[in-house]
Formats: sequence, C-alpha cells, structure tokens
Amino acid sequence: MDSEIAYALDQSHRPHVIALGSEKGGTGKSTTAMHLAVVLTKMGFSVGSIDFDYRQGTLSRYLANRNARAEAMGRPLVGPLHRRIGRNDSAMGPAATASETAWARGAFNDLRHCDYIVVDTPGNDTHLARMAHLNADTLITPINDSLLDIDIIAQLDTVNRDALGPGIYTQMVWEQNNRRANAGLDPIDWIVMRNRLSHIASRNQLEITGLMELLAERIGFRLAPGFGERVVFREMFLEGLTLLDLDLSELNDRRASSRSAARRELGELLQTIGISAPRIRTATPASAA
Ligand SMILES: Nc1ncnc2c1ncn2[C@@H]1O[C@H](COP(=O)(O)OP(=O)(O)OP(=O)(O)O)[C@@H](O)[C@H]1O
Ligand SMILES: [Mg+2]
Repeated sequence: MDSEIAYALDQSHRPHVIALGSEKGGTGKSTTAMHLAVVLTKMGFSVGSIDFDYRQGTLSRYLANRNARAEAMGRPLVGPLHRRIGRNDSAMGPAATASETAWARGAFNDLRHCDYIVVDTPGNDTHLARMAHLNADTLITPINDSLLDIDIIAQLDTVNRDALGPGIYTQMVWEQNNRRANAGLDPIDWIVMRNRLSHIASRNQLEITGLMELLAERIGFRLAPGFGERVVFREMFLEGLTLLDLDLSELNDRRASSRSAARRELGELLQTIGISAPRIRTATPASAA
C-alpha cells in the first residue's frame, strides 16, 4: 500500500476530498477553497479543511481572520475544522519528506469522520502538493483566461491551436492517478474552472472557450462554468468573510446583483462537482459587507 494514501479503500467511511490545485500561482485556489469549505458547512455537511501551502498559509490565515471576526462580533461564524500542515525546517531530504508525510497523514486522520475535506495546495510542484493531489477524489484547477495558464495543462500547437501533449501539471496529475490505480482507487475527477472571467466578451475569451473544450476531451478533465472578475473576492479576506456571509439586502442594486451572480457561480461549481445544492443558509449578517 502506498504510504501516502490517507484513506484505505476498505475503510467503512471515506471522506470526499476536494483539492484545489494548479502549478500556477495566484489563480484563485485559496479563495475557492475558502468558499467551498464555508458553503459546504452551511449546507449542513461535516467539513474539514487542510492547508498544504505551509509557506503562504492563505487558507489558514483566512480562517484565522474569520475566527477573529466572529470573536469581535460576539457570535460564531460557521466554518470547517481546520488543519495546517507544518514542516520540520531542520530536516532535509528523505527525513523532511517523511516528516511531511506524517504531518499530512495526521491531518487526514484527524478529519476522517468528515463528509468533505477541502484541501488547499501551493502553486508549485512540491512533495506536499503531490500528496494532496494523490488523495483528491475531486481536483479543481482554477485558471485565468490566458494561454500561459493553459500551458501547464497542455503543450499547445500555437499555429493550429491544438494539443501536442500534456503539460507539466497534467503529467503530475496523471502520475498521481497511476498511484491511485495501483491502490485500487478511482481516478481523480478533475475539473478545470476559468476564474476572473471578464464581463466583456472578447475574441480571446471565445478562443479560450473553444480550446478548453478541445483540451477537456484530449487531456481528460471536466469544465466548470467558473467565476467572473469580482471585486468582492478581494475585499473579504481580512474580514474572514465569504459571499455566503454577506447580507445582500443592505447593498445597492449593482453590488447586490454582482454578489448574487457570484453566489450562483458557486452553486454551479457545486453542481459540477456533483453536490446538489439544498437550501443554503446564507447571511450570518456581518455589517462590514
Ligand atoms: N473571481 C475573482 N475576482 C476577483 N479577484 C479574485 C477572484 N478570485 C481570486 N481573486 C483574487 O486573486 C488573488 C489570488 O487569489 P488566491 O490567493 O485565491 O490565489 P491562489 O491560487 O491561492 O494563489 P497562490 O498560488 O499564491 O496560493 C487574490 O487577490 C484574490 O482576492
Ligand atoms: Mg493560495
């Protein structure tokens, strides 16, 4: 058995692990991880989260801001049971790898009772990032609308706009699928999601839509509709809030309609993952919204 696989196939209950991953920085992994963890909790599931990005720790910091906010308001803001992977900086080589594996296994073990575990990963190829992908039942890869972001998924024939072969990130995902197959696990359900889509349709956007449909077939992933470019995503980190915490009734029409569109996009992502959306408890009124 692969010692980096956290949950054995014959385990009576295996949480569904949703990882956010990409070998590009700043594509929206942590923001999406936070929103998924909070929305799933609000839907009544038992949710865990693990931050594999031990250097930046964005998801951990986002959740810490949320706890501080709840404390300041004097009432709880629901969220996942969280674990952050640490690192023994004095260990090197195989000893460092072994300590990371033990740390990650410990986190998965602590959350073994959960329905869902949302896993955030760093935007580069590390041992921890690979371990996170290996354990993902669902992998969500946010990409920006740029050929640069697509390059890690597929090497492109720029003249004919076709795929010449897998990109470096795809190769890494396929390697984890081989390891999963050896352990009898299903392949990762890989979903690529365009993020920060411009509201003005452009030729580039249309071109990328066509390319992504082609690559989905060639490389073997599914496409999610994705998120538009919305200022609100950049505003909520310090407050530890998500779209689901905002009370739209207090906003002017333009801001309220942008935020309800963003909530719809989140609902569509859940649907693509295969989580049918029961009624979501929204606003725990938070005045800074
Ligand atoms: N749909 C969106 N609209 C506007 N801004 C967004 C959107 N999604 C993410 N952002 C912003 O983009 C930046 C990068 O997002 P985030 O930190 O989630 O990316 P990441 O992939 O986790 O980055 P890293 O690889 O560094 O971990 C942040 O400033 C975030 O607020
Ligand atoms: Mg991040």
